[in-house]
Amino acid sequence: MKQVFGVFGDPVGHSLSPVMHNAAFSALGIDCIYHAFRVTPEKLENAILGAEAMGFGGLNLTVPLKEEALKLNFIKPDPLAKKIGAINTVVFGKSGEIQGYNTDGLGARQALQDTGVEIGGSRIVVAGAGGAARAVAFQLASDGADIIIVNRTEERAVGLAKDISTAALPGKISGTGLSGLKELLQDADVLINTTTLGMHPNTETAVATAKELHSDLAVFDIVYNPLETKLLREAKAAGAKTISGVLMLVYQGAEAFRLWTGVEPPVELMKKTVLEALQA
Ligand code: ATR
Repeated sequence: MKQVFGVFGDPVGHSLSPVMHNAAFSALGIDCIYHAFRVTPEKLENAILGAEAMGFGGLNLTVPLKEEALKLNFIKPDPLAKKIGAINTVVFGKSGEIQGYNTDGLGARQALQDTGVEIGGSRIVVAGAGGAARAVAFQLASDGADIIIVNRTEERAVGLAKDISTAALPGKISGTGLSGLKELLQDADVLINTTTLGMHPNTETAVATAKELHSDLAVFDIVYNPLETKLLREAKAAGAKTISGVLMLVYQGAEAFRLWTGVEPPVELMKKTVLEALQA
């Protein structure tokens, strides 16, 4: 009998995780199937316990469940997920224990490394202060980058910077409003957009334009729909290195796959499958 894996979320219909993980299982000859399930926050507890009872192999959690999952005391979060305050991967252990991880930050780190971007010692400006910014900033500060969080709502940026600084990570951290972005970018090495600016259907918006960017900058947009966002187009025009959000999507999924199966995932195939699905 096929073992079932899944992603829980609401909405979840457009998730690319099923196509990505099913391609990986199939290529490796692993007899498993991955499906998307619409689960609301009120039903999360029953849904996870039900999945465990039915012998699911593992789960991903997406909007709006990642923070909610950390409130469930039957899930044991790993230290990074606890610091981030969100779980995106659930592992069902052999002796009934349920573990929670957050692979979003690892996905971002791998996307940067893949493109040859140095993290330790770099000055990284993170635009946005929501759940994605939290995962990315915690991970990269752990890896020794200096992080400046820049957000429309300044208090959220300051609050996130404070949370990260109390974790005593190697990188320096600060938070400020969006108006400071242009000046901060002048001596930054990396800009990471974690805001929803540029995301379908608001494709003509971007957190910065070419004249605020420069050719020594690497610009990473975690938005992958559309594949080439306005920010990435502006970055190209400024001669900056560009990094697509597809890489983060694939690498966070690859890390979850490793946690569930202990097997090295076929990352190139997963990337190709996601790109094809986005272009379809
Ligand atoms: P996620 O958990 O996916 O990161 P989120 O918590 O809704 O999503 O965060 C979205 C981010 O996009 C926030 O940083 C938000 O800024 P605010 O904190 O000020 O709301 C940012 N964002 C959304 N729309 C924006 C806009 N039009 N201009 C600037 N920032 C925007």
